[in-house]
Amino acid sequence: MSERIPGLHPIETASIDEIRSLQLDRLRATLNHAYSKIRHYKESFDAAGVHPDDLRDLSDLAKFPFLVKDDLRANYPFGMFAYPTSELARIHASSGTTGKPTVVGYTANDVSMWADVMARSMYAAGARPGMKVHIAYGYGLFTGGLGAHYGAERLGAMVIPMSGGQTEKQVQLIADFEPDVIMVTPSYMLALADEMDRQGLTKDKCSIRYGIFGAEPWTNEMRSSIEARTGLSAVDIYGLSEVIGPGVANECVETKDGLHIWEDHFYPEIINPETGAVLPDGEFGELVFTSLTKEALPIIRYRTRDLTRLMPGTARSMRRMEKVTGRSDDMLIIRGVNVFPTQIEELILKDARLAPHYQLEIGKDGSMDTLTINVEGKPGCDDGTRAAAAKDLSHLVKSYIGVTAAVNVLNEGAVERSFGKAKRVVDLRKS
Ligand code: DLL
Repeated sequence: MSERIPGLHPIETASIDEIRSLQLDRLRATLNHAYSKIRHYKESFDAAGVHPDDLRDLSDLAKFPFLVKDDLRANYPFGMFAYPTSELARIHASSGTTGKPTVVGYTANDVSMWADVMARSMYAAGARPGMKVHIAYGYGLFTGGLGAHYGAERLGAMVIPMSGGQTEKQVQLIADFEPDVIMVTPSYMLALADEMDRQGLTKDKCSIRYGIFGAEPWTNEMRSSIEARTGLSAVDIYGLSEVIGPGVANECVETKDGLHIWEDHFYPEIINPETGAVLPDGEFGELVFTSLTKEALPIIRYRTRDLTRLMPGTARSMRRMEKVTGRSDDMLIIRGVNVFPTQIEELILKDARLAPHYQLEIGKDGSMDTLTINVEGKPGCDDGTRAAAAKDLSHLVKSYIGVTAAVNVLNEGAVERSFGKAKRVVDLRKS
């Protein structure tokens, strides 16, 4: 059954006891469903010596084995599904950087639940029925476009299904159709903002009031920069294909203080990535999700590789996760120092001479790793200003992050733009 829209679903403001009791019921059903229908879970639970009946408390979930991306790959394409494809409504796939994609499946009920959590996310972001929603997440096997599309329809909004690319046309249509909401990756929003400048669609003329940005890490500095340039109010949306797609968690526009996890459908844990031990709320570690209502592809303790921490609810009762600033696989180790691209983004955004378009290059000098930061100067920046900005950024990176970096401040347009997730790191050691 779909959620009552508009307005908050009662579970969004329910007591913690009520939420935990619903989670326990749903978790029991999910473990039984997975164990009885999917060979992988039967084998992995048996090997770990656990049975769905061992779950008496939510904390008993820690006894169950983790699921990792390679498990999904090993069952490519449809081996992890609880039903034959004749009973599914849709599949999506996420393209890894290497090897086969991960295929995820949905029953009609799964698609409907996803539309519900997306509509809930959009409502939290400020979207309301009757608004026009411009969707510039890619449509296709990627979950961004269609996930947003079904959510916007469920909310009762009018969808503009633009997909990614055709930047000039996107901006012309934004001027003509006057959308209230935009849904797009933050890095592509920056490309759209540049094009808005070129077409003279200034902040006071731009109709967009709310932006729902995700699918890649982005900083609060990037939020402030986008808000200042475009006049919209920006919130963060999180999700991943394996768990459902976008709409696992979303920030509320009234607080913008981290993302509320829709815990009635997705149960979060934070683990120590080295030992696998569950950490208490508030501690940083790797985010792990268990689905509570999914039919086609129940997910038990999926290791996301995303690093964050859990915090108590504010605008909603459900727990929040802090903005994901990086994945464990994005962490660069430069001469023994751990570096996330978002740490460098933060420093770039603080410098008024620099544009927010950047890419990091990792190379080798003998046996030493080297880091080069390629970043664009703001339009109209002269050579002297660029050289000074490069020197200052290099100094800040050394003093705040602790690594030596060469900085090139480049002309406008020199850093490759993406229509979806930005490629922040180029590893020349691998070529
Ligand atoms: O990126 C789903 C999505 C689409 C989310 C549109 C939000 C908006 P995947 O392609 O499977 O799914 O990639 C999932 O992207 O594990 C994170 O590493 C990263 N990610 C997603 N949202 C955020 C975010 C979609 N808000 C992977 N902040 C996840 C940081 C994010 N990283």
